[in-house]
Amino acid sequence: MLREAIRALAEEKIAPRAAAADENEEFPEDSYKDLVAADFHAVHVPEEYGGAGADALAAVIVIEEVARVCASTSLIPAVNKLGTVPLLLSASSELKAAYLPAVARGEGMFSYALSEAEAGSDAAAMRTRAVADGDSYVLNGTKMWITNAGVSEFYTVMAVTDPSAGARGISAFVVEKADKGVSFGPKERKLGIRASPTRTVILEDVRIPASRMIGAPGTGFKTALATLDHTRITIAAQALGIAQGALDFAVGYVKERKQFGKAIGDFQGVQFMIADMAMKLEAARQLTYAAAAKSERAMHGTPVKDLTFFSSAAKTAASDAAMEITTEAVQLLGGYGYTRDYPVERMMRDAKITQIYEGTNQIQRMVMARQILK
Ligand code: CAA
Repeated sequence: MLREAIRALAEEKIAPRAAAADENEEFPEDSYKDLVAADFHAVHVPEEYGGAGADALAAVIVIEEVARVCASTSLIPAVNKLGTVPLLLSASSELKAAYLPAVARGEGMFSYALSEAEAGSDAAAMRTRAVADGDSYVLNGTKMWITNAGVSEFYTVMAVTDPSAGARGISAFVVEKADKGVSFGPKERKLGIRASPTRTVILEDVRIPASRMIGAPGTGFKTALATLDHTRITIAAQALGIAQGALDFAVGYVKERKQFGKAIGDFQGVQFMIADMAMKLEAARQLTYAAAAKSERAMHGTPVKDLTFFSSAAKTAASDAAMEITTEAVQLLGGYGYTRDYPVERMMRDAKITQIYEGTNQIQRMVMARQILK
């Protein structure tokens, strides 16, 4: 029922806007409003904070179905989850109560600010500083590659509070767009997900109350990585959706397109391509759903030792599959697939980012190997 409901909304409202949003690099404000009206914009927020209280698998299904028609728009439910999981995992109940209801009501989105220009894969090398001053912290630095920056009202920002302590000297904070000293760089000019703004978040003497720290001092890096254990699964979901969109379009096309006197789908070479695409997609989907079930158990306090492995494995398998499947979809459409008159070239461009963000697939393989070998 959930899949039917979100698919109907995605096909009716979001799909018709996807090509223009990509072309014009415009945040899909109308689609955000439609997602809020149907309560699909941040489904994971627990009911006690006014949210829909959807479990991790339900969140995956929502993201998957939105991504099937528009990857950029799927970053609304995905990044709202990424920005708020640090609070759900580590914040005081006061801090959760101060921010989560606004997200649930659709009054503001929540972004996640970990990376910096010189701290991408090596996230612990960040330089953004937060200095205690009475009952406040003062933040200075520049966060880079921040998804939905500028449109989000709220930001989880990781910053160094003790430069002598390495990864254990990083703390997490809630920063608001409205805080004095917060500004944004220009939109990055990207290959894909062009309707989702990616910008730097610039922090200049941003003074915030100490109560906006998420968890205890020095726990920010652990919270950041523990968050990714849950949210890399949402990137897997996004990749699955993009791939499903491309496969569905290609299947329709090969049944219609005639060459040598018959539909190209009647040729065994094309059939084998379709079979491989569907097989790789379904394998990645089952791994992602298993990872989502583990994420949900872990969220409710059950220790799940292999969550880190499953999360990285799902993200890697699904994003690698999405890149292959979307590339094959372009191939099946031939010259038409290479034009912007058909959606598969956009899907291929959008798929690429899923192999890069929330940790490159090379980092994921490192994370998986560490889990296996330790
Ligand atoms: N959960 C909780 N804690 C964890 C953890 C996890 N999964 N993994 C490691 N830690 C802890 C470690 O135990 C360690 O703490 P102690 O010293 O107290 O034991 C601490 O964190 C540091 O761990 P490591 O020594 O393993 O750290 P590292 O620096 O060697 O490597 C890394 C960590 C895995 C490479 C990490 O930096 C990483 O994942 N890098 C990729 C960055 C990334 O994913 N960025 C995504 C940006 S967000 C984004 O892309 C969003 C978007 O646009 C949509």
